[in-house]
Amino acid sequence: MGFPWAILSCASTVYAAGAGTCCSRLSEELGTKVSFLSQPAYNGTESSYWSLQEAGLKPGCILHPSTPKDVSQAVSIIAATDGCNMAVKGQGHAPGAGFANIDGGVTIDMAGLNTTVLSPDRSVLGVGAGAAWLQVYQYLDPYNVSVAGGRNGLVGVGGLTLGGGISHFSPRVGWACDNVVNFEVVLADGTLANANQNSHSDLYRALKGGANNFGLVTRFDLETFPQGDISVSTFVNNVSKRGPVLSAFTDIISSPKFDVSVSLLVSFLYNSKSKAWTISNSAVYTQPVLHPPVFDQLAAVPSISNTSRITSVASLADEAPTSPLNWLFATAAFKPSAEFMLETFEILNNILYSFNPQGGVVWDIAFEPLPSVMLSHAAKTGGNVLGLQSDEGNSYIMLISALWLDSASNTAVEEVSREVLSVIESRAKAEGLLRKFQYINYAAPYQAPLASYGAENFEFLKRVSRKYDPQAFFQHRVPGGFKLVEQSQQELGVSNEEN
Ligand SMILES: Cc1cc2nc3c(=O)[nH]c(=O)nc-3n(C[C@H](O)[C@H](O)[C@H](O)COP(=O)(O)OP(=O)(O)OC[C@H]3O[C@@H](n4cnc5c(N)ncnc54)[C@H](O)[C@@H]3O)c2cc1C
Ligand SMILES: *[C@@H]1O[C@H](CO)[C@@H](O)[C@H](O)[C@H]1NC(C)=O
Ligand SMILES: *[C@@H]1O[C@H](CO)[C@@H](O)[C@H](O)[C@H]1NC(C)=O
Ligand SMILES: *[C@@H]1O[C@H](CO)[C@@H](O)[C@H](O)[C@H]1NC(C)=O
Ligand SMILES: *[C@@H]1O[C@H](CO)[C@@H](O)[C@H](O)[C@H]1NC(C)=O
Ligand SMILES: *[C@@H]1O[C@H](CO)[C@@H](O)[C@H](O)[C@H]1NC(C)=O
Repeated sequence: MGFPWAILSCASTVYAAGAGTCCSRLSEELGTKVSFLSQPAYNGTESSYWSLQEAGLKPGCILHPSTPKDVSQAVSIIAATDGCNMAVKGQGHAPGAGFANIDGGVTIDMAGLNTTVLSPDRSVLGVGAGAAWLQVYQYLDPYNVSVAGGRNGLVGVGGLTLGGGISHFSPRVGWACDNVVNFEVVLADGTLANANQNSHSDLYRALKGGANNFGLVTRFDLETFPQGDISVSTFVNNVSKRGPVLSAFTDIISSPKFDVSVSLLVSFLYNSKSKAWTISNSAVYTQPVLHPPVFDQLAAVPSISNTSRITSVASLADEAPTSPLNWLFATAAFKPSAEFMLETFEILNNILYSFNPQGGVVWDIAFEPLPSVMLSHAAKTGGNVLGLQSDEGNSYIMLISALWLDSASNTAVEEVSREVLSVIESRAKAEGLLRKFQYINYAAPYQAPLASYGAENFEFLKRVSRKYDPQAFFQHRVPGGFKLVEQSQQELGVSNEEN
């Protein structure tokens, strides 16, 4: 896909007139639920984005729906108004410009749709699509049940679940999306539909990984499971210990008997100003067991600091809000190899060591397990569209994040991230270790995660889009995020790669 900021700066001039008409029609119909520049509600949404790239866009107006009916009314009005484009925001944690905000169009901030209702038998949680995960865990913890959701509490239910969703519980129950038993969703024609295994089952599957390409989800019904307190250890290591850390990581993630209570994240952190690398590990075990033996090898690596505690799901997810910075995510997936991970570190160090853009940049390169047992759970709700098979063996996902203060450095950081990623990918490909999968919630705007699901899933998504959205409203009039239309062009490049 093209650079979203380039597309958007066009859109703001071309569509400004359309947005004006449509904002006034929206405010006639929905009154004070529509806010305008300099009003407190508008300000509230603008200051709730996680990245500066998102917070910097200025919609013509912002809709704050409080019911699914508000959403369906708004979509009908917007779709009927030529030249009026829109964006959908959950908790605003996608870093890329335009993913959940728009210059000159209408932003629909779903955050007010945040009700949580547990079924009487406690087996299903109905949660408003605009909720944050912390609210979900705080609600569920007292009932001794939980759901597969985000690890950081401020992340949104909406974006995380529609893109897949990696949870501490994923090895045990699958991607967050595999645990959705029903989506309540507003379609392009404004109708409110339910998508589940019995009704609109094609749309149901497409929403499990298809992101914002099919509708505005207003409620997710999530399967729960019994859950008590969990164990969390953190280890910080000198980067000179990368050999033993990566061996421990690889041993844990490549085990054919992957322990489904493991939720592990190993990160390399680099600060361009101090030119210093450190290793930070988060070793969560989703049972109340302090020092579980599965982490012994990792815990034995001499650390700069280490902590261990038993805590509740909600308190682990509880984090302090941060003020927005410039952020970039980029991702790839690999077959396990400690040697290749060491080579990855050398590539990172070679390219990043002397790159110190104006204002500095902090890199966080994280590695997380993608075990085959996690993929085996997709079948219980009829499958998702991610294109991952449990018989392909254990893998791991790499998330490259960059954060920096000075927006003047945006292009430079993005270019360096592309270079790093392309060198790592081509080395992995040469060694037969590259998986084709690009996790959409970690993908950079220049990547093609939808095409990475494989030709069959990609064609399926396009068919479902034509069926439920014949005018391609969500392709052309909701331009933010990864679009089926844009990724068609990149399809060939991706599908040539192996697994
Ligand atoms: C600090 C941090 C921690 C993270 N931790 C995890 C983690 O543990 N596991 C993981 O898998 N990912 C994680 N992520 C990635 C996260 O899944 C994505 O950033 C996700 O897009 C965030 O969802 P959101 O609703 O907050 O974001 P938004 O930016 O509001 O939305 C993201 C995308 O989803 C679309 N969208 C949102 N809600 C709806 C809806 N109701 N209907 C239709 N489309 C919608 C938006 O249009 C947008 O394109 C993390 C990200 C951050 C910044
Ligand atoms: C909006 O936020 C800005 C700072 O982000 C502040 O200066 C301004 O006063 C706010 N306006 C309103 C109406 O709240
Ligand atoms: C739910 O959303 C409303 C409206 O935005 C907000 O006032 C309220 O604090 C939210 N509830 C929780 C528990 O976050
Ligand atoms: C949850 O578990 C705790 C501790 O085992 C118990 O005291 C409490 O009664 C349980 N709560 C419910 C609602 O079952
Ligand atoms: C890391 O280890 C090296 C020796 O291998 C040492 O020179 C350096 O001071 C250590 N750094 C920290 C932060 O402990
Ligand atoms: C963990 O930290 C304690 C002190 O808090 C220290 O005594 C111990 O050596 C550390 N473990 C390792 C493996 O470094």
